[in-house]
Amino acid sequence: MQSDTNKILTLKNVKKVYNDSEVPVEVLHGVDMEIENGSITAIVGPSGAGKSTLLHIMGLLDRPNEGEIIYNNHFVRGLDDDKLSEIRNREFGFVFQFHHLLPEFTALENVMIPLLIQGVNKKSAIERSRNLLREMDILSREKHKPAQLSGGERQRVAIARALVVKPKIVFADEPTGNLDRKTSENVMNVLVGILKERRISFVIVTHNRLIEKYADNTVYLIDGKVENHYDIGIDNET
Ligand SMILES: Nc1ncnc2c1ncn2[C@@H]1O[C@H](COP(=O)(O)OP(=O)(O)O)[C@@H](O)[C@H]1O
Ligand SMILES: [Mg+2]
Repeated sequence: MQSDTNKILTLKNVKKVYNDSEVPVEVLHGVDMEIENGSITAIVGPSGAGKSTLLHIMGLLDRPNEGEIIYNNHFVRGLDDDKLSEIRNREFGFVFQFHHLLPEFTALENVMIPLLIQGVNKKSAIERSRNLLREMDILSREKHKPAQLSGGERQRVAIARALVVKPKIVFADEPTGNLDRKTSENVMNVLVGILKERRISFVIVTHNRLIEKYADNTVYLIDGKVENHYDIGIDNET
């Protein structure tokens, strides 16, 4: 296909049906979207709109029933599952509402793990991980285990772990969903600062309209369809 270096990810008429219950549920009804390199995109919509489903498909964790996904000029349909996991491991970062840190390991060790899996030697894994913990303003907690950290601190560690592999794009699903407003703003400010500085693309899905202010583009997802407006105001944030 013709190369369009400015777009890192394109979705065309993406449909998703869950067939695991007796009645099939169509959750995404033909989503079109373009993500520009280095941009921050917020996908905002109410609970049940299909945001997590869409993020899984964009993050190549799941495949659509219909439609095309083009990542970095590759048609995803033509790539096998091994190739998709290679892309995810090398080029993507993920942050979820719950941090998924390993409880037995320290903050530093949690951040190092993806690098060790990639075969980076221990000395440079420690150095790169400590640099990111410093940038996330959490280096003073490097020896703490997740249970000894606050919610905001855990999310900073989880973000450091997502960024340490130098991803091209980071996907986040309600990453501040468990945090109070002030902590959430602190986490978002540090994260967005790092993403912008390194020109890492970022896709965040959330029901929280306060997140829109960090985004270059906001897309509304209502009932599995992209809409250009969303009538619930910031004051009605849940
Ligand atoms: N594995 C599944 N099987 C069947 N239905 C599902 C499954 N996962 C999600 N759903 C349904 O899909 C809809 C959208 O879910 P989701 O993508 O989690 O929305 P959101 O993240 O916007 O809250 C919901 O109605 C949900 O119940
Ligand atoms: Mg969700």
